[in-house]
Amino acid sequence: MKPSASLSRFSLSMPADLACQLDAMVKAKGYANRSQAVAELVRSRLVECAAEAGDQVIAGTITLVYDHHKHNIQGLLTDIQHDHAAVLIATLHVHLDHHNCMEVLAVRGRARDVRQVADQLIAAKGVRHGRLTVTTTGEHLHAHG
Ligand code: NI
Repeated sequence: MKPSASLSRFSLSMPADLACQLDAMVKAKGYANRSQAVAELVRSRLVECAAEAGDQVIAGTITLVYDHHKHNIQGLLTDIQHDHAAVLIATLHVHLDHHNCMEVLAVRGRARDVRQVADQLIAAKGVRHGRLTVTTTGEHLHAHG
């Protein structure tokens, strides 16, 4: 939270075993207390919800792993990326081993546009694994305290 952000105080009820698991997570992950852990969970869920709303601007990364020998995969991925240049802001290419490449694409744009390009890239023939990870642009969420 920003230093100036005011705190809202309220009580929560949840099943005892869930509270127990929460306490175990607080300890394991090194949160200062339950409140910090719950605030973090709420923030994560808010980011996910924003990603489901088509017009919200989101940021994130698309990670792809593929065998660069297969199916002209690099040409195909490049074509898709050129078609969505407005959403793709940076690319990192790592040669993992003799066959496999990993690409990490930084993306920012309307949720529906980001999802569209992610779906196309992940579904491209020859991609072995792909994932879109969504984060927030930071505009509507407070940072950690
Ligand atoms: Ni490579």
